[in-house]
Amino acid sequence: MRKQLLLVLILLTAGPLAAAAAEREAVSVIPQPEKMEVQEGKFLIGPETAIVCDRQTRQEAEYLRDLLRTPTRYALPIRETAPRDAANSIVLRIVPDAKDLGEEGYALKVSGDRVVIEAGTAAGVFYGCQTLRQLLPAAIESDCLVGGVEWEVPCVEIKDRPRYSWRGIMLGPGHNFLTTEFVKHYLDVMALYKLNRLHLHLTDMGWAIEIKKYPELTKIENWPPILPRWRRTYGKCTQGFYTQEDVREIVAHATRRHILVIPEIELPAHSSAALACYPELLCPNWKSPAEKIDSYFQLPFNYCAGNEKTFEFLEGVLSEVIELFPGPYVHIGGDERVRGAWEACPKCQARIKSESLKNEDELQSYFVKRIEKFVQSKGRQIIGWSEIMEGGLAPEAVVQSWLDPKHAVAAVGQGHDVIMSTNQNCYLNYRGLSLEKSYAFEPTPPELSAEAAKHILGVEPCLWGFGQHRHDELVFPRLCAFAEVGWSPKGQRNWDDFKARLKPHGRRLDELGIDYHRDPAFAEKLWE
Ligand code: ACM
Repeated sequence: MRKQLLLVLILLTAGPLAAAAAEREAVSVIPQPEKMEVQEGKFLIGPETAIVCDRQTRQEAEYLRDLLRTPTRYALPIRETAPRDAANSIVLRIVPDAKDLGEEGYALKVSGDRVVIEAGTAAGVFYGCQTLRQLLPAAIESDCLVGGVEWEVPCVEIKDRPRYSWRGIMLGPGHNFLTTEFVKHYLDVMALYKLNRLHLHLTDMGWAIEIKKYPELTKIENWPPILPRWRRTYGKCTQGFYTQEDVREIVAHATRRHILVIPEIELPAHSSAALACYPELLCPNWKSPAEKIDSYFQLPFNYCAGNEKTFEFLEGVLSEVIELFPGPYVHIGGDERVRGAWEACPKCQARIKSESLKNEDELQSYFVKRIEKFVQSKGRQIIGWSEIMEGGLAPEAVVQSWLDPKHAVAAVGQGHDVIMSTNQNCYLNYRGLSLEKSYAFEPTPPELSAEAAKHILGVEPCLWGFGQHRHDELVFPRLCAFAEVGWSPKGQRNWDDFKARLKPHGRRLDELGIDYHRDPAFAEKLWE
């Protein structure tokens, strides 16, 4: 009530500009909806408010009830049989004629006596609930009981759907382990910003996933030593792995939030932990990682591409990974192959000869294509970093473009789907990447035609290294900018407006316990 009075006072005394700013503060949805009209009045959620759903939206109704329960202590009743125009209700429903809303869009109407969220899919209803969440006072995010707050929602009419289907983030527990609880907390916050892809980089100098067939992988004492330089750069030494039960818990938590988890098992390089555990998979003339390391960036190890045991091992690993992650994609890395190893290896050279390959790039392509065939035999599709284009792209691979966007254009030219993670614009570990630069990122390269641009699936910022104690300040609030890049219409993106809307999100992130990078006004030069 007091907030409303303040708003009215501002409106009366400070003229239209201040009024617009105050409204932005009161209704600050991120990502900005495609169409939103703020109207007079408000809806008040109280202990008698009912959630009315149908069978397909039951899970969303339970999610919303649980979300509202902690700070309000209201255990809102859920009714499947109540009339859809019941007063004092939040109505969630699937409507068959919602084709213009697509797979993830929704319509949200808040009037004085009810809230109605309609969509063609449960995911759309879920995103409508996230917008409703953001229209409530920030204290709705609290994990404490919050007294003295009117749980009111301004009257609005919203029609909204995403620009891109891929709105993700990559985190790297294969470098610095992130606990299951931490990952679940991040999934909760991703949902708030309508992000739908969590890419976990599970292997590199650590191996963060239990594989029953290869138990040596998760014996941490086998892993190569983490150098002081690496530890200094990236903070505390954090090692660990997910049991298969942990993975199921993460995947279930994500699925309830309409988030797909994409596992990455790196090959042929960035695999020093696996190669320290199973050194027989190295090229025979190469020393074990444990003996050879002198700096992280000089971990000169690839799996031997001439050794059948390499493929047997990777197929064993991928079989278990595919069982655990139900989504359609498996990321197989493919970046930064170490030069010199295969060139000097008699087995790799024999493979080049027997397969009539021209060089080591083609050997890499042979490697990736062979893995693709296996992954496809299990009904899944591979994703690989830009370098999988070297020597010839695997037929159905999705390319994650992290280097020059010309790779993205070339991959689209060959009919492949692409995820945009251009390092200069999307690497959250780059301190020079300001909030404004993050917000300005345009995922679709300008040279693509409208038809070709459909192959750009979306955007995925990446955070490489860093223990979880450093994540909040590096990820937030830049992830809010990427959420808007991935969701909102291109023509509607406006930096000044975003900054004004972002400001009240500081309170929301505070309530969520996110220790975001603090600056008095989320200024442009946050990370310089
Ligand atoms: C990468 O940053 N090496 C994908």
